[in-house]
Formats: sequence, structure tokens, C-alpha cells
Amino acid sequence: MTNVLYFDNAATSWPKPPAVGQRMAAFLDSEAANPGRAGHRMAVGAEKMIDAVRKQLTDFVGGTDHHRLVFAMNGTDALNIAMKGLLRHGDHVITTTLEHNSVSRPLVAMAEAGFIELTRVGFSSDSGVIDPEDIRRALRPNTRLVAVTHGSNVLGTVQPIAAVGHMLRQINNGRTRFLVDGAQTLGVVPIHVQTDAIDILAFPGHKSLLGPTGTGGLYVNTGVTLDELSAFREGGTGGDSSSPTMPRLFPYFLEGGTPNTVGIAGLGAAVEFVVAHGPEKTLAHERAMVQAIIDRLADNPKVTIYGPKSAANRVGTLSLNIEGYTPQEAGGILDESFSIAVRPGLHCSPYAHQALGTFPDGTVRVSPGHFNTNEELNVLLNALAEMAD
Ligand code: ALA
Repeated sequence: MTNVLYFDNAATSWPKPPAVGQRMAAFLDSEAANPGRAGHRMAVGAEKMIDAVRKQLTDFVGGTDHHRLVFAMNGTDALNIAMKGLLRHGDHVITTTLEHNSVSRPLVAMAEAGFIELTRVGFSSDSGVIDPEDIRRALRPNTRLVAVTHGSNVLGTVQPIAAVGHMLRQINNGRTRFLVDGAQTLGVVPIHVQTDAIDILAFPGHKSLLGPTGTGGLYVNTGVTLDELSAFREGGTGGDSSSPTMPRLFPYFLEGGTPNTVGIAGLGAAVEFVVAHGPEKTLAHERAMVQAIIDRLADNPKVTIYGPKSAANRVGTLSLNIEGYTPQEAGGILDESFSIAVRPGLHCSPYAHQALGTFPDGTVRVSPGHFNTNEELNVLLNALAEMAD
């Protein structure tokens, strides 16, 4: 598939830096013992590797205690660990209409079961951004959690998480926890759990961090105690096996089962690459590509571009529709006639599409990433213009 022009980086980034696969192959071939499950040198080596990647990621998100960096299978897994660990019967939760199903489905399921009360705040369809004041107005005495995506996976717009986090710290009783879904931003937009006043940050490893699928995690900030959490997944943790329940220690309390050591090794190489290349440079590259698409197509009467007509507050994600084609038809033509990979449809974010008026067909989502070139962009621009005309 090397001739595919891949513009679906919001789903998962591709290609990966070569060092990712190399590190995974090397670890699998010579070091892939089960970490912490035995005292032999290979097992200790695997544990050391995991510990080093925990530190790397903790530093990357501005954390202070790497034991609070919990590995998970992906962003969805990390979000489930956070939400199901934190919420208790009768709690109120505030979330937004921009959320991916990884946030909204667990919350709706809990609300429909009568376990929690749920409020969803909207966003401006012009700016693609939520208003922290809407969250302030929705707060109740029993609001336990505010869950907000940092970057919309439909519009690419970046949400004012620091404003929400600091507002919650200032006006709340310390009981409301702030969960940020960094799925579309971590690796390109700076996230700092201290300065952004985040209680729990959840993220996948396979998007802008450029790591392999099957990786992700959450950072549980120091204000959140283990007493507030229940274990989402229970099982073996290595170390002391005598405890009849999960040991009350970060990260093991939240990490039952053999971790994806091979994936975590690759994620370590990916984060090294991201840091060495500078997330700000990748963000500028993605924004320039999104702006070029807007500039070429915004005045075309047959093309609708959703959200702001500027890339300044976006990651590399843009939704559009072309008159005369459903999103699925447009995505199919781009794939089959132009070898261009994009994602049509609802993008697992039905509430955002309802708000935009694009439900149930959705949009064509184009998401350039770190490795896309200007030559590829030109092919994409000409293909979209040709289809529209
Ligand atoms: N969450 C991924 C997307 O937005 C899969 O496409």
C-alpha cells in the first residue's frame, strides 16, 4: 500500500517513525519477558524498559510522579479506567457534544442505568469551541466529573482546557475532577497537567504520539488519591501476589494483566522521535496543510467546510462535504480513483454531527499528519477540486 496518500491520521497516524518498528522488533527478539512477574534478569530488564517509558511520558505531560502514569490499551481503555474508577452511584457528570463515543458511550450507559446524572454542554458551530461558562453554569453540588476532549476529532478544534481546569479549581469544593481526553492532541498541542489544572489525562499512543496501536495510558495527577478510585480491571500485577485484591499502589492498582511490552517499547521510541522533532513544528505543518485546503476550497460553492475558516486553533483535522456525493461516496472515490485515504461518516462522534447538522451521513474528514508532504497535499487538493467541479 505504499502508493496510498494517507490523510487519515486522526484515526491513527501512519506511517510511524522507522525507529518504532525497529525498537519493537529488537525488544521482541531479545528482551520480551514478562515485567515484574519473576526475578530473572530478562523480567527485570522488561520492567526497567517500562519504567523508562513511564518516565518519558510523565515528563512529556508535565507530571511529577511517574508511578501515576498508568498504561492502557488505547484511549478508550484509559477513559474507561478513569470514568468507571471514579464515578459512584448518584454522581453528576458534565461532558460536551464534541466527545468521541469513548467518552459518551460509557457515560450514556451509566446514565441510562440510573447510576449517574449526565449533562452535555454544546459548542459554537462557528468556532468549534466550547464555552467554559456553560460548564460553570451546569455545575451541581454532586458534580463529580467534568470530561472534555482537548481536540475535536470531527472539526480539529482545540478546546480551552486550561480555562476549564482553573475554573473548576477556583470555584469548586475540590470534589469535582477534571478528565481530559487528549486523543487528538497529545504529541502536537502542548498538554501540561499542572498548568492546565488537569486531574486525569487519558491518551492513546497511536495517534500524534506516533506509537503503535494497542498502546495508551492515563496520568492521574497528584491531587487524586487511590481511595477515590476503584480498579476497572482486576488481575495479576506481579510483585507481591499475596494480596487478595488489587494492591493499593500506583500504577499497579489500575494495571491488571500483562502489559503490551512490545508496544510500550515502540511507544518509547515514538515519544523520543516526537520530542526530537518538536511537536510545535509538526503542529505548524499540519495547520499549514489544513489552511491550504480551506484556502483552496472555502469559496467553492459546491464544498462545505465545517467549523472555523482558519486553521489557527485546529490540529490537522478538517471536515467537509462535496455537493452531489454522500461522505461515503466521496471517501470511496478518493480511495479507489485517487488512492487517497480519508475517513467519511460520523467519526464515532454522533453528537458533534447532530450539532453541525451533518447527522446521520456525517462528513469527509481529512487529517494530514507529520509525514504528509506538500506533493501529497497538492494531489489531495486537485482531487477534491476535481470532484467538486
Ligand atoms: N477515534 C478515531 C477517529 O476519530 C478512531 O477516527
